[in-house]
Amino acid sequence: MTALLGTDPASIARAAACLREGGLVAFPTETVYGLGVHAMDVPAVRRLFAAKGRPAHDPLIVHVSSLDRAALLTTGMPPEASALAHAFWPGPLTMVLPRHGAVPREVTAGLDTVAVRVPAHPVARALLEAAGVPIAAPSANLFSRPSPTTAAHVLEDLGGRIDMVIDGGPTSVGVESTVIDLTTMPPRVLRPGGVSVERLRALLPHLEMPGTSVAAGEAAPSPGLLSQHYSPRTPMALYSGALEATRQAIVKRIHEATGDGLRVGVLATRERAAALGPIPVPVVDLGSEQDADAVARRLYAAIREIDAANLDLILTQQVAHTGGLWQAIGDRLTRAATEHVAVP
Ligand code: TXA
Ligand code: MG
Repeated sequence: MTALLGTDPASIARAAACLREGGLVAFPTETVYGLGVHAMDVPAVRRLFAAKGRPAHDPLIVHVSSLDRAALLTTGMPPEASALAHAFWPGPLTMVLPRHGAVPREVTAGLDTVAVRVPAHPVARALLEAAGVPIAAPSANLFSRPSPTTAAHVLEDLGGRIDMVIDGGPTSVGVESTVIDLTTMPPRVLRPGGVSVERLRALLPHLEMPGTSVAAGEAAPSPGLLSQHYSPRTPMALYSGALEATRQAIVKRIHEATGDGLRVGVLATRERAAALGPIPVPVVDLGSEQDADAVARRLYAAIREIDAANLDLILTQQVAHTGGLWQAIGDRLTRAATEHVAVP
């Protein structure tokens, strides 16, 4: 049985005690829900990997309550890390740093580096405070499912497999933290996320943004960056290219696929959906292209919603913008897709 807890002090105290004793507790952060475990408790960390069905080669992020606590997890905090922490912590930024020997190898998947983040969500902060230990936490989804942005998503994937979920309502950012590696020269973005690359570059001008989509099997700079990582169960085709040509290609595909007897659905921003005109298939709205924050907040819930519609094929269009949060949104759509169609 998985207990569903509120955010009152008694519930936080109960969850903190559970964590200290080696339990698995899902909790809200401002990005997505995390599945937390006492980071120094190796058997508990192993149970976490098993509960998620996560491969042991995919390292975890360690969450702490302050920069001082983060410093205890690394053998060297480079000067730019403190500057970034002052600017973006607490918040949706994860820094990969040299691992201190106190951090179990099970947490870092054997790497000599450790990923560290100070989350901003008041419930996450209260839990870290009450637990008094670092909390290793991946997103609280089953491996290869979209990240959870509500407690209901967590229960959908992990109900019965973990001890508790703290329900803090829907998360406010909606996509995961930005992961940057400060152990390389120049530093690199391993995963675009809640803090935009533009904002990071104001402090870290040499920050590199390599192609983050790595085909399964290739050596990934970050072991978790398998290109298909956030997929719905339903095959999803992502169309990219000039807007009008892409629109026409999607309309054509809808007619072909429904003609073949397939159940088709469309995942689209409000503007793209309107441009498609009346179409004979269900459409799930991603929100307006005028509002990246809203699209990011809704993205994973929308993917889960269309996936639950029991379709044979999802058609979607790459977002038109690239700056700010759009980079993370575009990245997640790319990873979720099982088919990529570049329209000339
Ligand atoms: O917003 C978030 O980051 C959420 C919340 C719960 O904090 N967590 C999250 O964790 O998304 P997870 O495990 O789903 O993704 C962590 C990513 C993975 O791609 C993993 O490979 C990478 O961070 N990572 C962790 N430790 C690393 C390390 N030492 N070196 C390189 N990449 C690392
Ligand atoms: Mg994840």
